[in-house]
Amino acid sequence: MLNDEEYTRLSMENNLFWTRIMREHAVFIESSMPPPQRQLAMQANRFKRQFDRLLSESIRLATGSVSDRSLQSGQYFTKATEAAEQATQQFTGTAINSNLTKMEYHIQPAGSSPQALQRTQEVSRLNQSALDLVNTFARFKSELYNRQTSCKMFTFLYASIYEHVFHEAKKYLEILTGLQKKDENYNGDYQSFWNQHMADHAKVMRGLFDPTETEHFNAADSFAKTFDTLVRSRSAAKEEELEATKALSGFKSDTTREIIECRVKSLMSPLFTDHITREANYYIYLLQS
Ligand SMILES: [Fe+2]
Ligand SMILES: [Fe+2]
Repeated sequence: MLNDEEYTRLSMENNLFWTRIMREHAVFIESSMPPPQRQLAMQANRFKRQFDRLLSESIRLATGSVSDRSLQSGQYFTKATEAAEQATQQFTGTAINSNLTKMEYHIQPAGSSPQALQRTQEVSRLNQSALDLVNTFARFKSELYNRQTSCKMFTFLYASIYEHVFHEAKKYLEILTGLQKKDENYNGDYQSFWNQHMADHAKVMRGLFDPTETEHFNAADSFAKTFDTLVRSRSAAKEEELEATKALSGFKSDTTREIIECRVKSLMSPLFTDHITREANYYIYLLQS
């Protein structure tokens, strides 16, 4: 059983990470809809704004609740996040609230405010709101996957991306459900989950670099092979996963910088590569916990 302090810290560390991830999935979906799918783009836009509110509430309750190490881990924002948001908003026309990013710079770690312990009720309410919204969002993602794989719709996202983001919503739901039961095993088999997701990221990157970017293509392909091997070898040591994920995080953040500075050609927005950098950093944080 998790005690109140652990419950609050783990809930807020996860909500701070995941509400932003969900918000960005909504941004990616909204900005990938061609004109005939306006209705779906508007639905994604509504999800985005609902997650904006949850992220803002997460930022408020995270202050004084989350660990200093989590704040330094690069899972909430990176040096590139703000610039990536601005460029992505400018290029896609999809509004992205960067004030939330600026607010995140000022989150104070646990131990800095005595009221954190009395927050259990508020945290529990936030977890419940997140459970409700993420449930509906997961259904929306699976509907998009079904429409696209049955050729009822075309969008500028791979079908496997809809599946991937659906699984991320499911993972967040699993975490929230576990936390609400104060279950110490709230994060299940996170290694299998994230090894698979790191492999997916490498493959999506491989498929979205311009065909002339041979070096980047080959680097992404090699990461895909590394993580496919880790997925297959069920007994992979944490050390191996840690080393591979740190290298992949570096590749993703280098790519983000190159996209922002117009030094590599691709079909990726910098917010997308920054997003998957943060997911790698979250995994690194878990491996080191
Ligand atoms: Fe994601
Ligand atoms: Fe992902």
